[in-house]
Amino acid sequence: MDTNGMIGIGKDALMGTYAQYPVVLAGGEGRRVRDLAGKTYLDLVAGIAVNILGYHDPGLSAALHGVIDGGLLHCSNLYWNPYAIRAAERLKRLSSLSRVFFCNSGTEANEAALKLVRKYGASKAEGRTEVITMQQSFHGRTYGALSATGQPKYQEPFKPMLGGFFYAPFNDIEGVKALIGPKTCAIFVEAVQGEGGVIPATTTFLRQLRTLCDDHDILLVCDEVQCGMGRTGYPFAFQKSGISCDVMTLAKGLGGGVPIGATLVAEKLAHVLVPGDHGATFGGNLLACAAADHVLSRLEEGELIEHVRKVSAHLVKRLQEMQSEFPRIEEIRGEGLMLGIRMTDPVRPLIEACMDEGLLIANAGAHVLRMVPPLTITVDEIDEAIMILRKVFSSAFS
Ligand SMILES: Cc1ncc(COP(=O)(O)O)c(C=O)c1O
Repeated sequence: MDTNGMIGIGKDALMGTYAQYPVVLAGGEGRRVRDLAGKTYLDLVAGIAVNILGYHDPGLSAALHGVIDGGLLHCSNLYWNPYAIRAAERLKRLSSLSRVFFCNSGTEANEAALKLVRKYGASKAEGRTEVITMQQSFHGRTYGALSATGQPKYQEPFKPMLGGFFYAPFNDIEGVKALIGPKTCAIFVEAVQGEGGVIPATTTFLRQLRTLCDDHDILLVCDEVQCGMGRTGYPFAFQKSGISCDVMTLAKGLGGGVPIGATLVAEKLAHVLVPGDHGATFGGNLLACAAADHVLSRLEEGELIEHVRKVSAHLVKRLQEMQSEFPRIEEIRGEGLMLGIRMTDPVRPLIEACMDEGLLIANAGAHVLRMVPPLTITVDEIDEAIMILRKVFSSAFS
């Protein structure tokens, strides 16, 4: 069946929750994906910061085949399984946190975090369940995570939200302080806001948040769903600022393309959730945890992180060169391989033109082009992407 036929059936079969581009993706190799018609695209999207090892990674394939060949894909949380245990051990080592809860997605990881911080807060003082999050933040689409999300456009059609959430201006410690009260139990922050437009938290702000939390006995929750897993040149983005966090949430890159999320907590929170408090049928699934175990082994080796730092410096330099050439570029921002190009104009037409030229690039809001490629992207592939971007910009802005 051809692409249009396939898309026509898709439109009749799937809910219209996404505004897909008219391409059907069917395969991938390295940093390139292939559509149904056989056209290949250099990929700066990576399934939105998910496919961090790129496509057809031999180690990831072997890890998945290992589980499949063993015959047990899933065993529930009534029993232990070696993949979940190994992946949790690696996460502990990489993060210096103390316990892991596995789930399936970023929003679920944040739901677990919300339940945990509220239970902990309430155990300290009656009604201590209020949560501060940041304006322009994004924490997910389920009701708790959506209530935590500081972007009214995502909440409006689904009101009422859960109570007890307050939204502070990002990178503004006085704004956060103004919202703190005796009922505040936690502050959620993304070290680099993703959906909000690829905006890094300053090191100063993260350190100030840590101090504020310590001073008021408030839990600091780092949502690393998008910026974590090596993407910024650190295993987890908050680590750049040298702070510790009390809770961290992960998903996206954790499984290298296999759905998995995780909520990690510091030692003092290790026993807050007890049997019966929380769960997820698929949490700790063997296939997902084998994928995570392999991806985490790559982060532990350290080479991948070094690579991210090196190629990121190259990409930033090339983007800055473009900025001096194209005045419609307002700002280049981000960390590591999580970069945004803020444009004066809406970016959707640029994204479509890039696709025509064989390059996938995403947006973050209407005016920001977002690059979150596989972390394995090479310098040559970056140069190729820049060449295509230049061509597209030249013809769009001539
Ligand atoms: C920072 C952050 N948190 C949470 C989520 C939600 O993750 P998921 O779509 O896996 O539920 C996202 C998704 O983009 C995210 O960027």
